[in-house]
Amino acid sequence: MAKIKTIGILTSGGDAPGMNAAIRAVTRAGIYNGFSVKGIYRGYDGLISGDIKSFTTENVSGIIGQGGTILKTARSQAFKTPEGRAKAYETIQKEKIDALVVIGGNGSLTGAMLFAQEYDICCIGLPGTIDNDLYGTDNTIGYDTTLNTIMDSVDRIRDTAQSHERIFFVEVMGRDAGFLAQNSAIACGAEAAIIPEDSTDVDQLARFMQRGIRKSKKSCIVIVSESPKCGAMYYADRVRKEFPDYDVRVSILGHLQRGGRPSARDRILAGRTGVGAIEAILQGQRNIMVGDRNNELIYVPLSEAIRKDKPFDKKLIKVLDELSI
Ligand code: F6P
Repeated sequence: MAKIKTIGILTSGGDAPGMNAAIRAVTRAGIYNGFSVKGIYRGYDGLISGDIKSFTTENVSGIIGQGGTILKTARSQAFKTPEGRAKAYETIQKEKIDALVVIGGNGSLTGAMLFAQEYDICCIGLPGTIDNDLYGTDNTIGYDTTLNTIMDSVDRIRDTAQSHERIFFVEVMGRDAGFLAQNSAIACGAEAAIIPEDSTDVDQLARFMQRGIRKSKKSCIVIVSESPKCGAMYYADRVRKEFPDYDVRVSILGHLQRGGRPSARDRILAGRTGVGAIEAILQGQRNIMVGDRNNELIYVPLSEAIRKDKPFDKKLIKVLDELSI
């Protein structure tokens, strides 16, 4: 492969707080190490259409504390097709981009992996998603901020839950993963969390109700991982039917979880992994995600990073159970 001179950066999939800090880090570390940097707008769609601008360090000044992504983002349907990726590669050649840094979650890094398998292009992933569901990294950029956002929101819900002596089912994001739900439940002092990782053979609501929590507490917060069929509404309806004397409410936090200023942890993770992405390129790495494991940066093959079975620490279920009596 020819010497890498120009690096393209894009953000893709759901935006996550800290993506701007990551764009800044890759741009600055790239320029510091002698590369040209180009910002690609609107994710893979912008790569297909050529929505691209050369970046100097000024393009990324003042963005470290901003939520969202200055590069915009998209869930590109076109890039999922071989024809879309062929067009994207035409842009890569036209723009003389030698390496692509993709900041995004599972779907985005799957796209990067396919692209790298089909074409001679160095793809480096940065873990950017609130869901924390990428394999090979302890944390993803955006996860910590979102945990804090959920915690702040649930602290407020707790006030009204206590005043009215109600059970609240609070639905949080996470797609198919319960990292946000379980850890926010611990951080908020919630009475229970209902998560996909614990759903195979247990009726989590029945188990919670059997614990007789209402005998010791007048109000409860149950954090529920989003799910197309069994979200907060489903569980609230069940409680209304099975325990008609309980006063039940639902709060779906929705997209407010994705916005806001990134936490210090997310900014630092973005900075470290951004610099790590440029180091990876300098070392001749290809088709890897820069992960953070035990506070050390590691290079995880993209094919592994997108695995659906990131280990979930089941001990956290016991922690919440013991703390919520
Ligand atoms: O992957 C991030 C995420 O916020 C998930 O937690 C959620 O399921 C999904 O994106 C929502 O996507 P959209 O913003 O496209 O509705």
